[in-house]
Amino acid sequence: MHEGARAGRAEFVLAAHNDVDAVEDAIKRWRAGGGMGRAWIAVESLYSMDGDCASLESLVALAYRHEAFVVVDEAHATGVWGADGRGLAAAFEGRDNMVALHTCGKALGGSGALVTGPRTLCDYLVNRCRPFIYATAPSPLMAVAAREALAILSDEPMRRVQLHERVALAGRQLTERCGVVPSGSQIQPIVIGDNRRTMAVAAELQARGFDIRGIRPPTVPEGTSRLRISLTLNVDEAAISAMIDALTEALVRT
Ligand SMILES: Cc1ncc(COP(=O)(O)O)c(C=O)c1O
Repeated sequence: MHEGARAGRAEFVLAAHNDVDAVEDAIKRWRAGGGMGRAWIAVESLYSMDGDCASLESLVALAYRHEAFVVVDEAHATGVWGADGRGLAAAFEGRDNMVALHTCGKALGGSGALVTGPRTLCDYLVNRCRPFIYATAPSPLMAVAAREALAILSDEPMRRVQLHERVALAGRQLTERCGVVPSGSQIQPIVIGDNRRTMAVAAELQARGFDIRGIRPPTVPEGTSRLRISLTLNVDEAAISAMIDALTEALVRT
């Protein structure tokens, strides 16, 4: 998103994480300073590093008040959340001020991405988006894979139910055993703070067979280095409990 804003030579301002009032203040300040045209409010629907969710309903209402667009990156929600796994912005489908990006490389198991939004805007992208026009088209094989993955999303809702059950189980155990506040999603950060300790705990978990990575600044703010647990259906309940055993021990030892 940051790179896109730079590439588009857009004027952009940052707002505090998941703070709708801060977004509104930023738009008002920009307008007061002579900002012309439409503001684009860009957020992730499910934040990749904190596992929390954007307040989409409030942001859409804010966008209407200020003649703005909401651009939602659904990378971590597609396939996991929303009706038929269509993401958290699915509840706002059909709005003329909402554009959603669904990456195919995560839950859909492929690569590339889908953009959903008002027809005029999609036509504009197809005809004016230079990186899209001057790149080789995605492989037709990938289109077939994406179509099949989308069909599985609507045909096999049990997958989402099972994943959400595992998320709830992990959340309960992490609270009881490590005092962690559950994010409520399949992405669960364990904020450690210190960079070196974070990487040491991650290394210990990896040595015990758990693919959990340490995330440091600049990917996350200074002083908030963390382990990032990403739950998928590839792990069962026993593996989740074993992971939390290993985590509890590693946190005590390092
Ligand atoms: C929030 C978010 N958006 C977009 C992307 C880009 O996805 P891709 O690499 O499939 O283009 C990522 C990749 O990790 C991501 O985390």
